[in-house]
Amino acid sequence: MKGQTPHDILPNEHHDEVARQEFVTSFKVHVLTDLGPGNKRAFENRGAPAFQKTHGHQPKSARDVARVMHKDPFWQTWSSLNRSGQELMWEGLGERTGRQLDDLTDRARNAAARKNKKGSLRLDPTLKVPRYNSEIHIHCQPGGYHAELAEDDVSAGALYDVGAYQYGMGGQGPMTDDVGVTVGAYFRRTLPAFAPARILDLGCGVGHQTLGLAEAFPESEIHGCDLGAGMLRYAHARAESVGQAVHFSQQNAEKTDYPDESFDLVTSMILFHETSHKAIPSIINECYRLLKPGGYMVHGDVPEFNKYWPEPYDQFQRDWTTHFNAEPFRSKMRDMDMAGLAKKAGFNAKSITEDLVPSLFGEAGYARTSLYGNTHAYGMKWWVLVAQK
Ligand SMILES: C[S@@+](CC[C@H](N)C(=O)[O-])C[C@H]1O[C@@H](n2cnc3c(N)ncnc32)[C@H](O)[C@@H]1O
Repeated sequence: MKGQTPHDILPNEHHDEVARQEFVTSFKVHVLTDLGPGNKRAFENRGAPAFQKTHGHQPKSARDVARVMHKDPFWQTWSSLNRSGQELMWEGLGERTGRQLDDLTDRARNAAARKNKKGSLRLDPTLKVPRYNSEIHIHCQPGGYHAELAEDDVSAGALYDVGAYQYGMGGQGPMTDDVGVTVGAYFRRTLPAFAPARILDLGCGVGHQTLGLAEAFPESEIHGCDLGAGMLRYAHARAESVGQAVHFSQQNAEKTDYPDESFDLVTSMILFHETSHKAIPSIINECYRLLKPGGYMVHGDVPEFNKYWPEPYDQFQRDWTTHFNAEPFRSKMRDMDMAGLAKKAGFNAKSITEDLVPSLFGEAGYARTSLYGNTHAYGMKWWVLVAQK
């Protein structure tokens, strides 16, 4: 795995920590790519015949597949190892970020206090965080996106920065900004004349994709909002450190305080699948409100919609992270009609596009291990929903 690009607030790592995480990565790759395909064989050789015997037909849904596979000893062992890899990863990264937390907090404070800042940070301690975000430690990140271990805590952001890089096995590039640069390049390619004056990135996290997107639009004024204060404190220090002007604000993407028609481009990246059935239409409606006439929204996420994966076994495999990696909405999102929601919100029907866009880092040869073993049929692509107001 290649390293992360250094910046002022990136937690450092000493020799033993590097060695430990190299082990964790190798372990995860082994479980996913070497052992993972054994699940399909277990299904074909044992699970499907057992289901046929009991029900008189082949499994017709992911739930049918789960009925037999959740009892299969190979799958149980694989699943347990997969979960252990994730826990080992966070344990090591937690120790690494935890031992330098005071220092990281000071750095973020200094960045926020600096007079010649390029961007800004606006926090709202009264913000009510929706339960789909506050009640879950998403993908098992200890403390989730909301750990507040001390005053001005940045631990959620620090852990997310190093965790997202390692969880993605470095496949999102050294700044973990693959979705942002991919979406930015997609826009430049499909709408070369589009020059947004103001851009808002909803659910911006620590700004990974916000900064990636900013590369495509160097003249734009960039804003990012997120629910997590610790994510945003870190995001602000990180953006300042790399010389990028971003205005971060702690807000719920479902209902923000930005004025009507105040942006030309509103984006979200890897946000939808961590929200809810109720939140997604609200976010799309909010995009409509925020956009100037003629402006665009674009949402990028994992390409896991069932229409791309009609086979019950493939859907079952994709359910693993829903049930065992604390991403409860991930499977549920896969049947949603996103284009229909955009149309209902008032977007120009002719402009609404859903696409699978090849990942730029994937194309540049960044090795990426599929979360699902060798069933890497979608290649390295991101799902996008684009619509014009
Ligand atoms: C998987 S992270 C992705 C972060 C960033 N977009 C990226 O791709 O690096 C999802 C982020 O969405 C934020 N989030 C979830 N629901 C949100 C909401 N309703 N409003 C604002 N942010 C939200 C979370 O706090 C988290 O930082």
